[in-house]
Amino acid sequence: MDSKTLRNYGSSLLLVVTFSATVVAAPGEEKCLVCHGKPGFSKTEATGRKINLFVDQAMLAKSVHASRSCTDCHVDVVAIPHQVPQKVNCRRCHYSGNTVGAPQGELYDQYAQSVHGLAVAAGNSKAPVCQDCHGTHDILSPDSTGSTMYKLNRPATCGKCHMEIYSVYRESVHGVALASGVLDAPDCASCHGEHNIKKHLESGSRVSPEHVSETCGECHGPMGVASKYGIKTDRTTTFEESFHGIAHKMENKTVANCASCHGFHDIRKADDPKSSINPANIVKTCGRQGCHPEATTQFASGKIHVDPTKKEAGLVYYITKFFTILTVSTLAGLFIFIVLDLFRRAKKARGAK
Ligand code: HEC
Ligand code: HEC
Ligand code: HEC
Ligand code: HEC
Ligand code: HEC
Ligand code: HEC
Ligand code: HEC
Ligand code: HEC
Repeated sequence: MDSKTLRNYGSSLLLVVTFSATVVAAPGEEKCLVCHGKPGFSKTEATGRKINLFVDQAMLAKSVHASRSCTDCHVDVVAIPHQVPQKVNCRRCHYSGNTVGAPQGELYDQYAQSVHGLAVAAGNSKAPVCQDCHGTHDILSPDSTGSTMYKLNRPATCGKCHMEIYSVYRESVHGVALASGVLDAPDCASCHGEHNIKKHLESGSRVSPEHVSETCGECHGPMGVASKYGIKTDRTTTFEESFHGIAHKMENKTVANCASCHGFHDIRKADDPKSSINPANIVKTCGRQGCHPEATTQFASGKIHVDPTKKEAGLVYYITKFFTILTVSTLAGLFIFIVLDLFRRAKKARGAK
């Protein structure tokens, strides 16, 4: 055993000792339930707000933490009567290498660096800690339909705090699809991430101007799920081949990305009169943010997602075709010229001998 393993061994031993010490010293679950097991047990704050203090044990028994006792989480309740306990710290168990079998990965580290974690650390009491997203005594695995973080329930959970965005998203093509049970449609986390959500303008954000097209492309690209819904999945390739896409690749952040034309929380089908890409609104969309202030109906009637190798691209198809033929014939001509020239030089050289 080297000194490092010895130290680890030592610290886990210490952890076990402190854990069992709290378990022994702390009052048992039955003791808590003498008061907290009474339906209607509550307190009234100075402001007149009533706080429920009843704990539904049946709910806890159905949660992922069924085998945890009250004081595993409320560690600071060590005597009765007790002081108002601190907020529960989920990280007591959910950390890399924990001995209680709590799933973790790099979750906590990611959260700490997220817009939410940083805001909490800076003292913003409105930003979410673990329990704001996952619940308290009712925590379930996010794969379970009853979880606040189950895909179909996420928009409403994020929406508790981001209310305006939620109300816009709900009416978008994605929000409507998700609410009707289409699990392939994006919820908030599909676009923003989960424990790693960043401010939208930060370059590390999945929705920043430089990354948003890739994020849409996860579903609308060639291998994306959108094809299952009769939506063309050449959207990202046609976009990349367009002028906007090429300029976008060349790090020109001010040029259009998917969201500049389609919006983001308010994405709608082209035939929806409220859609930013509806023929009635497209001139305004091209002109917004000062992109093309001179935009006219005719200007905007040009196709945007054009595949230049298909006839439906119209003039673009023929121009592409023309240049392809021109390039091939020029190269062929050049090649024939070189061969003839080499042949002539060889003949001349032989003649000179
Ligand atoms: C004698 C009754 C009684 C017992 C037994 C009791 N509590 Fe409490 N508990 C209270 C009261 C009263 C409050 C409200 C305290 C306040 O805000 O002044 C409270 C508040 C709490 C809160 C915080 C609620 C909030 O305001 O967010 C937690 C958590 C809690 N108790 C956990 C426990 C645990 C765990 C046990 C068992 C180890 C326990 N209690 C045993 C009476 C009791
Ligand atoms: C998995 C951890 C966990 C376990 C186990 C747990 N609690 Fe809690 N409890 C929480 C969290 C999280 C909150 C929300 C407040 C906070 O963030 O600290 C909470 C809140 C409370 C409250 C305030 C009222 C409420 O519902 O918000 C009381 C009272 C309470 N717990 C008592 C108990 C008692 C009694 C038990 C055992 C029967 C218990 N808790 C078991 C995590 C836990
Ligand atoms: C006393 C240790 C402990 C504390 C504190 C604790 N957990 Fe857990 N948690 C566990 C264990 C152990 C499991 C695994 C349960 C199982 O699979 O049977 C778990 C499972 C979970 C799961 C389910 C993961 C999955 O995919 O199945 C979530 C979500 C979760 N915890 C969130 C939280 C949150 C949020 C808090 C803080 C309010 C918290 N936990 C506090 C020990 C803890
Ligand atoms: C902004 C909301 C949010 C916050 C805050 C948050 N989570 Fe999560 N968490 C999620 C989402 C969304 C998922 C689902 C991920 C998935 O299904 O891929 C998740 C999944 C999990 C899981 C299950 C992962 C697995 O592999 O099974 C655990 C455990 C968990 N979170 C614990 C925590 C802990 C601990 C904290 C606090 C440090 C926390 N979460 C903070 C949104 C959040
Ligand atoms: C289809 C992808 C997508 C979905 C789904 C989505 N967002 Fe966004 N969100 C974006 C993009 C892109 C931006 C950046 C917009 C910009 O650059 O101005 C953004 C910006 C934001 C912002 C910061 C800007 C602001 O207005 O405050 C918040 C907060 C936000 N989203 C929360 C949410 C929530 C909550 C949900 C779910 C109800 C959600 N988003 C669903 C793509 C999405
Ligand atoms: C408890 C309330 C709360 C919950 C729940 C919550 N948020 Fe937030 N969120 C905030 C607050 C407050 C901020 C502002 C933090 C700051 O910038 O200081 C924020 C910031 C953000 C931002 C960055 C905004 C920007 O300026 O670009 C995004 C994106 C975001 N949240 C998305 C989500 C998503 C997605 C969920 C659900 C998985 C969620 N939030 C759940 C309160 C919440
Ligand atoms: C998680 C996958 C996913 C992500 C990410 C995603 N979408 Fe979608 N999108 C879908 C699905 C699935 C549908 C079909 C919904 C339905 O109608 O049932 C759809 C529908 C659409 C439609 C309507 C198509 C039509 O006319 O029927 C548009 C436009 C669209 N998405 C644009 C975007 C943009 C722009 C982004 C990025 C900001 C984006 N999507 C991100 C999955 C996704
Ligand atoms: C310059 C503006 C613009 C940009 C940038 C743009 N689109 Fe579009 N998009 C449109 C317009 C206009 C339409 C409707 C007419 C059409 O199909 O060309 C459309 C149609 C769509 C449709 C519906 C196709 C169908 O089958 O009904 C999807 C999905 C879509 N775009 C996704 C994307 C994605 C993903 C990106 C980014 C990779 C993107 N768009 C970039 C303007 C744009």
